[in-house]
Amino acid sequence: MTQPYLKYKTSSDGASIDPLYSLARAIFFKMDPERAHDLALKTASLPFAGSLIKHRYKSSANPTKVLNLDFENQVGLAAGLDKNGDYIDALGAMGFGHIEIGTVTPKPQPGNPTPRMFRLTEHQALINRMGFNNLGVDHLLKRAEARKYKGVLGINIGKNANTPLEKANDDYLHCLQKVYPVADYITVNVSSPNTQGLRELQHGQLLRQLLQALKDTQSKLATEHNQYRPILIKIAPDMSESELADFTQAVLEHEIDGVIAGNTTNERQKVADSEHAAEQGGLSGAPVRELSNTKLALVRQLLGPDTVLVGVGGILEARHAQEKRDFGADLVQLYTGLIYRGPALVRDCIRTLA
Ligand SMILES: Cc1cc2nc3c(=O)[nH]c(=O)nc-3n(C[C@H](O)[C@H](O)[C@H](O)COP(=O)(O)O)c2cc1C
Repeated sequence: MTQPYLKYKTSSDGASIDPLYSLARAIFFKMDPERAHDLALKTASLPFAGSLIKHRYKSSANPTKVLNLDFENQVGLAAGLDKNGDYIDALGAMGFGHIEIGTVTPKPQPGNPTPRMFRLTEHQALINRMGFNNLGVDHLLKRAEARKYKGVLGINIGKNANTPLEKANDDYLHCLQKVYPVADYITVNVSSPNTQGLRELQHGQLLRQLLQALKDTQSKLATEHNQYRPILIKIAPDMSESELADFTQAVLEHEIDGVIAGNTTNERQKVADSEHAAEQGGLSGAPVRELSNTKLALVRQLLGPDTVLVGVGGILEARHAQEKRDFGADLVQLYTGLIYRGPALVRDCIRTLA
């Protein structure tokens, strides 16, 4: 039973105020962000925590079919929170209709030196330069296979830091083949600002060669497994209009199933007053929302109505999820909002979109 003093309150704009999460946040925000992140995920995985979270944050379903997959609702967890697939069930208890694990690379790698994650609390934002720290695709596969979560599972793939850009396709194809039988969809991440040169794959010949290789392998794997798995490409909100025109043309030419817009930004204009503004890495959370929305709308316009579009970036309130849908997103994802607002945000978004 929920104690009365831990019950939700509702603010004037309809957002849940969750005293339980406010308490947890007050403790976690006193810690180093990366330690807090690990501890929060471990706590959410404790045997009693799953049912408590499920009970407290449950929302009714709003089923939707996208990518020929059945989603219980339109709200998903963005990549990067569960890079190794170690916390799928705990995150599933928060009500997400889909969870995207990764980015995973062929071989394990440590990522960048710490500190590499910074909280810009006054801006409801984070800067991170994690650099694809992960335990490698074989570890992730075992974890994904052992999941009990019944929702849609996306697996986000990348390249190892020491793989030269000319050989990047080999890393993506290696991961694609490995995860294909386990993933409901696969995301190809070409937009992390923290792997040198990665964003070069968003343009021109490098992009076209990658898309062709992915489509050829997808078609081969679909025959082999007698199952078609959609592929989505995740892009940066920093792409210019002409870059997006070139990108979307390539996506349409190669019949890529969907686009995720987008990743973190290199922009700092909105957080220039922060003590962390000069930290290298990608900025996420509230300050990226407008930029992500502008690019989302443009990508929808350029792609036309048929390619699936996932809107990500700066969802801190339920109405921000609605905004993304109005700009043309079929599904939405969030990451930083979960850190600042807790699982009540997921439930609020699901209700608003329903
Ligand atoms: C600490 C951190 C790590 C991230 N790692 C990844 C990653 O490994 N792969 C990826 O595609 N996106 C990654 N992202 C980007 C998020 O998935 C998302 O696209 C971005 O943060 C914008 O959404 P948000 O404002 O809701 O956080 C990461 C974001 C953060 C804050």
